[in-house]
Amino acid sequence: MIELVPASLVHAALLAGMHGICFTEAWSADAMAGLLDMPGAEGVIAVDGQSLTPAMEPPGPAGMVLWRVAGDEAEILTIAVLPPWRRHGLGRRLLDHAMAESRTQGAAAMFLEVAADNVNAQALYQSRGFVQVGVRKGYYAGKDALVMRGDLGRKLINPIAFCRPHKAK
Ligand SMILES: CC(C)(COP(=O)(O)OP(=O)(O)OC[C@H]1O[C@@H](n2cnc3c(N)ncnc32)[C@H](O)[C@@H]1OP(=O)(O)O)[C@@H](O)C(=O)NCCC(=O)NCCS
Repeated sequence: MIELVPASLVHAALLAGMHGICFTEAWSADAMAGLLDMPGAEGVIAVDGQSLTPAMEPPGPAGMVLWRVAGDEAEILTIAVLPPWRRHGLGRRLLDHAMAESRTQGAAAMFLEVAADNVNAQALYQSRGFVQVGVRKGYYAGKDALVMRGDLGRKLINPIAFCRPHKAK
């Protein structure tokens, strides 16, 4: 069974190792610790079989997602599933978790950047209603990034309508 375990600073090296397997531009443990230390940042590690010892088959850590909430906006900082665990719905489960937690914390929209040629990840985001809202030229070592936005489905109260007094009958 795969459990989602909260990520903390003690996991920085593990997160960096997983990131290095999944991306060509690896992030250091210090960089991971810096992300986790940002206000509003959270993350989970998908743990298959109760072991956090890196392995290329179960048991072991299978994936991760880090996100950040600032006011009514949230942002995916990174999301990845290790190759042996891909295409079994784990990426979607991690994204759903980050979206649900961000909504609970008050965010109405979630943003992320994805490499323009990463069609697999784009398909994942589109399957959860994300749409492209911009392009960052040369964002990933010369490669363009698409900026995508997802609606978290939280209805904001219109303060004007809310405060309007009822008409006297
Ligand atoms: C992107 C990533 C997180 C997807 O994880 P995953 O567990 O394989 O994804 P899921 O099994 O939950 O797939 C969800 C949807 O994503 C899309 N998708 C994921 N991998 C795909 C692939 N190889 N080919 C086509 N579509 C793919 C599909 O729409 C899929 O839905 P479906 O299975 O109903 O067709 C994983 O491939 C990964 O870690 N890639 C390297 C790191 C990365 O690119 N992270 C995103 C950076 S923005």
